[in-house]
Amino acid sequence: MKQLLMVVSISYLIGNFSSAYILGKILRKVDIREHGSGNAGATNALRTFGKRIGALAFILDVTKGILATFVGYKLMGYNGSLLGGIFVVLGHNWPIFLNFKGGKGIATSLGVIFFLHWPTGIICILIGAFIIYKTRYVSLGSIVAAAITPIIGSIVNRPFNREFFLTTLFLAILAIFRHRANIERLAKGKEYKLGEKVE
Ligand code: G3P
Repeated sequence: MKQLLMVVSISYLIGNFSSAYILGKILRKVDIREHGSGNAGATNALRTFGKRIGALAFILDVTKGILATFVGYKLMGYNGSLLGGIFVVLGHNWPIFLNFKGGKGIATSLGVIFFLHWPTGIICILIGAFIIYKTRYVSLGSIVAAAITPIIGSIVNRPFNREFFLTTLFLAILAIFRHRANIERLAKGKEYKLGEKVE
């Protein structure tokens, strides 16, 4: 029980380290959540602060996912890494230190998937990147990549692992839920394109 509480709280706290918010505050003295899409994530950091900060936010958010699953694994084994993966994304999306207004969890989920089963991560990121490249919509690539992760994972990660499947399914549902506004903009043809400047 003590171990479980430790995994939950440590991974949630790791998730609270909102890279895009912290980099924006330190390097540009602004709250990223008041700019662009209002999301505290790498895509909005790229849109608002440029390539370097965007890339750094992405790397740090992926690292968070890897770190939390690693800590979970060390404390509780495989199931601990699944739990750590879920709570780091919850911490990223709803950080207590930022009044529960965080990001959408894509880069962090990617780090989680990389740790849990890297071939699944590689396939999903390639599919997501292809969609982004073709459409210029990061949100669309992210949504599709998240949605197909449980399916790809079930095919590639053999023998079938129910806990892994349920974790990726939960992360996919979270990602789609967090992209509600993007889905609305996509449907109306008003979604921001990659590289588009938004005030
Ligand atoms: O990972 C977030 C991305 O899919 C969408 O970000 O800022 O365009 O809402 P944003």
